[in-house]
Amino acid sequence: MKGRKKEHLEISINEDVQCSYNYWDDVALVHNALPEIDMKEIDTTWREFGKEMKAPIIIAGMTGGFEEAGIINESLAKIAEKYQIGMGVGSQRAGLEDEKVAKSYSIIADYKIPLKIANVGAPQLLEWKKPIEMAEKAIKMIKADVLAIHLNFLQESIQVEGDRVAKGCLEKIREVSSSLSTPVIVKETGAGISMEVAKKLLETDIAGIDIGGMGGTSFAAIEAYRAKKRGDKIQEELGHIFWDWGIPTPYSLLEVAEICQDAGMVIIATGGIRNGLDVARAIALGADAAGIASSLITSDSAEKKMEVCFRSLKTAMFLTGCKNIKELKDVEVWID
Ligand SMILES: Cc1cc2nc3c(=O)[nH]c(=O)nc-3n(C[C@H](O)[C@H](O)[C@H](O)COP(=O)(O)O)c2cc1C
Repeated sequence: MKGRKKEHLEISINEDVQCSYNYWDDVALVHNALPEIDMKEIDTTWREFGKEMKAPIIIAGMTGGFEEAGIINESLAKIAEKYQIGMGVGSQRAGLEDEKVAKSYSIIADYKIPLKIANVGAPQLLEWKKPIEMAEKAIKMIKADVLAIHLNFLQESIQVEGDRVAKGCLEKIREVSSSLSTPVIVKETGAGISMEVAKKLLETDIAGIDIGGMGGTSFAAIEAYRAKKRGDKIQEELGHIFWDWGIPTPYSLLEVAEICQDAGMVIIATGGIRNGLDVARAIALGADAAGIASSLITSDSAEKKMEVCFRSLKTAMFLTGCKNIKELKDVEVWID
């Protein structure tokens, strides 16, 4: 298990595992030639889950469970603290099953991060005898404000040793979300959420959805590389066939944003977000915040990347004449 998460990270950094097309390029915000605002007055504050963040940006959960992962989580935590934004950790399964590696996740609790997101997989909730206790332990491990339950069945289907039992996940999500006092969100990991699935999730006690759509990191691609390394040519070919599988993030957002807003759910758009312009596009399409993952770990400086993210978000807001995030939600959007 530990080895698998390490391989995911190495492959994501060293190979091109991006989807063939990033659908955020189809989304244009309508330019305002007369913005009539002072850029200095733009306020990017995002308030959610009783917390205040400097921008609606989240460092999406990626890693944990081995030494190098702890180093990466710590460097990302420093950025989350400096910029006062949200941060998630990767699946905490390893840390829950082996206390020795818990520090690679809990290191983020040493930093003043306004919103910390714990992470467990829906397949693990099925496996564990006491899923509620395990979820509580994951929250405690990083002193989390929110728990994300991730859905990753694209990855599980391509993965050589994948877990293909998806029966009963919805019931587990219902059970866990109704039992915890910490808010729970459901998070896809690159294949998106359809309206039908969102409607089912809305019947549980979750507080939000991270639509985790297609267009950025492809887990089918990551698993294709792993299968190749193992000489499993069949799974490798499956990885290539499903490389671009999923609902593109902007389209997933269009499907679910309205019904989620009506239900008072927080909606996070992760998947293919590269900069603050993509964050602005996501907010204009109905997201409350956007999550950014691979762009941070593949960049030569994650901190510089975040600075560009903040400045490009502000620039997009200036050029659309928006003084705050609420106004950004109402900006006119063209979709190619
Ligand atoms: C190396 C790596 C490991 C990841 N591990 C997890 C994980 O354990 N749990 C999870 O919910 N998402 C995980 N993700 C998914 C990201 O949180 C995110 O949803 C996805 O990468 C899409 O965002 P991106 O296009 O900005 O990379 C991982 C992503 C990467 C690149």
